[in-house]
Amino acid sequence: MKRRKFLKNSSLTTVGIVSASALASCKTENKPQETVMASTKPIKPIVVCTWNFGNATSKAWDVLRKGGNALDAVEQGVMVEEADETNETVGKGGRPDRDGNVTLDACIMDKDGNCGSVVYLQNIVHPVSVARKVMEETPHILLAGKGAEKFAYEQGFKKEDLLTESTRKQYQEWLKTSKYETTINIENHDTIGMLAIDENGDIAGACTTSGMAYKVAGRVGDSPIIGAGLYVDNEVGGATATGVGEEVIRTVGSFLIVELMRQGKSPQEACEEGVKRIMKKNEGREDFQIGFLAINKNGETGGYCVHPGFTYREYSENGHENREVKSFYN
Ligand code: GLY
Repeated sequence: MKRRKFLKNSSLTTVGIVSASALASCKTENKPQETVMASTKPIKPIVVCTWNFGNATSKAWDVLRKGGNALDAVEQGVMVEEADETNETVGKGGRPDRDGNVTLDACIMDKDGNCGSVVYLQNIVHPVSVARKVMEETPHILLAGKGAEKFAYEQGFKKEDLLTESTRKQYQEWLKTSKYETTINIENHDTIGMLAIDENGDIAGACTTSGMAYKVAGRVGDSPIIGAGLYVDNEVGGATATGVGEEVIRTVGSFLIVELMRQGKSPQEACEEGVKRIMKKNEGREDFQIGFLAINKNGETGGYCVHPGFTYREYSENGHENREVKSFYN
């Protein structure tokens, strides 16, 4: 049974996914302020993506410039990185947890507030596509672990070993000390989060990661958590996050940024406020990185991070560039 029909007929409307219904009520009650929708002509289509993932952003742009919709664009865009074995933070070739298993987290969200998510998914190269299937083919939002994997096979996804020769060797090396530490901006920890607006002016987003390298088995970060690693609202804009997921979850970072934009802040101001809220809870701490990226319905973009080094890539008819963002610490 498809989601809409199921929710209409089922008591799950009240039980299921409390946070999603809370978020939805915020959406209908607070109309965006005029200041969000500036009078300039909106830039569309447009796509932005965390870090310098040029191939992924260019793939999404290709979908958009041919008239494709934002949801297809973000899915196909982030799939590029999921399939890229040399990217050791996302999809196949992602570094494993401390037990040697590669476990993937991803989510996707569309213009109508529909969303799908998978966590702790093993043996599947494209978690974002499984997340989309969860969104479109089930009454649920989030599937985890073995259940998510079984669902993926039922949907026709193939089983594949996600460890590569390189990540297997690195893991063997890591086992010698088993020391766990995150390194700022070093690729043991980052995420691809992508936001797109299509030529109709509709927005969608996707986020996918293998999470922290050598994480405790079972750990899930912010990336697949709607509102934390990703949130879009077709009335306002969207936001996504990269970095230490625990800190993003504590502030429900992406939802916070979208709500700040709804109140009239620019994407840049909203991202700055998001990072400042995190730093307020972590006074004096300098040992982690967070980067936020946001876009409003006008196609204005912004980003902000804890430490210098976070960049985002943007594609529109104005060209494409990799943008370095300002940071809390210099
Ligand atoms: N931001 C990705 C993670 O913490 O897993």
